[in-house]
Amino acid sequence: MKILITGGAGYIGSHLVDALIAQGHELYVVDNLATGKIDNIQHLLENEHFHFVNDSILNETLMERIIEQVDLIYHLAAVVGVKHVIDNPLRGILTNVRGTEIVLELAYKYWRKVVIASSSEVYGKSEKAPLAEEDDSILGPTAVGRWSYALAKAIDEHLAFIYHDKGLPISIVRYFNSYGPRLDPRGYGSVVAKFINQALAGKPLTVFSDGQQTRCFTYVDDTVKGSILAANLKGAEGQSFNIGNSRETTILELAQLVKKLVGSPSGIVHVPYERAYGADFEETRRRVPDVRKAERVLGFRAEVPLEEGLRKTIDWFQCGR
Ligand SMILES: NC(=O)c1ccc[n+]([C@@H]2O[C@H](COP(=O)([O-])OP(=O)(O)OC[C@H]3O[C@@H](n4cnc5c(N)ncnc54)[C@H](O)[C@@H]3O)[C@@H](O)[C@H]2O)c1
Repeated sequence: MKILITGGAGYIGSHLVDALIAQGHELYVVDNLATGKIDNIQHLLENEHFHFVNDSILNETLMERIIEQVDLIYHLAAVVGVKHVIDNPLRGILTNVRGTEIVLELAYKYWRKVVIASSSEVYGKSEKAPLAEEDDSILGPTAVGRWSYALAKAIDEHLAFIYHDKGLPISIVRYFNSYGPRLDPRGYGSVVAKFINQALAGKPLTVFSDGQQTRCFTYVDDTVKGSILAANLKGAEGQSFNIGNSRETTILELAQLVKKLVGSPSGIVHVPYERAYGADFEETRRRVPDVRKAERVLGFRAEVPLEEGLRKTIDWFQCGR
């Protein structure tokens, strides 16, 4: 197949590109390298089955030219993560809403299947655990910039469902805390990258608050596997899926594990959220995926244990780059 991956030079996107190239597909990537890196796709630039365009998904003429040619679209390009969106909320909303609108409008025009990369953030501050796909999104006030990422992803999902109602084949994957090689080494937005960097530098690992907040860390091979299943299975159309590992880990446990695996003498220090995110920041204490629907419909199950995934990620931070 000919496949477009928007955001294909990014962390998850570039792993998806590798997996699909290995399956023999022809890949097109549109990425403006806002947070993506040429290093992530450097090894493919000479490959005749790989075509990279360094431009924005907001360039409709370019997007039309490419979407017309492909059979399938994975839409991953976005301003990603709460921290980036807080720093530049206007760019975040424009890219994450208008960008998705452009992809879906053109997919509808040329009748191409689209897989939309969404996020566990759409559940907002819901205290429910585990979170099932049909559960409520509980977001904070619009005056608090933090929620605009979740809201934009929720609008993307609404748009995708609206086009599905018109008959367009779409699937939505909600990623839960993906980690692995090629994570942004500056650790901007990823606690795994931040801890590995700190541990390798012998600096204290900075844990927000009491560190008892939990997340379900999902190795990138599992994130990619779930995305491909959602694209390939007819039964996945018109639905959203939690793509995550169900093992719940406190942030303090994660810090201790990274410290142990790196063999670092670093200490662990607790810092208030306000220092990084400002006074009105609200954190979600738990975010656990209910994976039963993904298992039932996609046959998806996250398989890589946290220790193994962290080892591979640490190896990459040490010598893979
Ligand atoms: N990493 C996670 O744990 C996680 C969790 C939930 C959802 N997601 C979603 O997965 C997708 C991929 O995220 P990622 O973690 O790989 O982050 P990433 O920042 O590495 O990838 C996003 C990519 O989009 C590109 N991009 C941004 N604006 C663009 C534009 N206007 N035009 C073209 N390209 C543009 C960036 O350069 C980057 O390569 C995103 O949609 C994100 O919201 C990721």
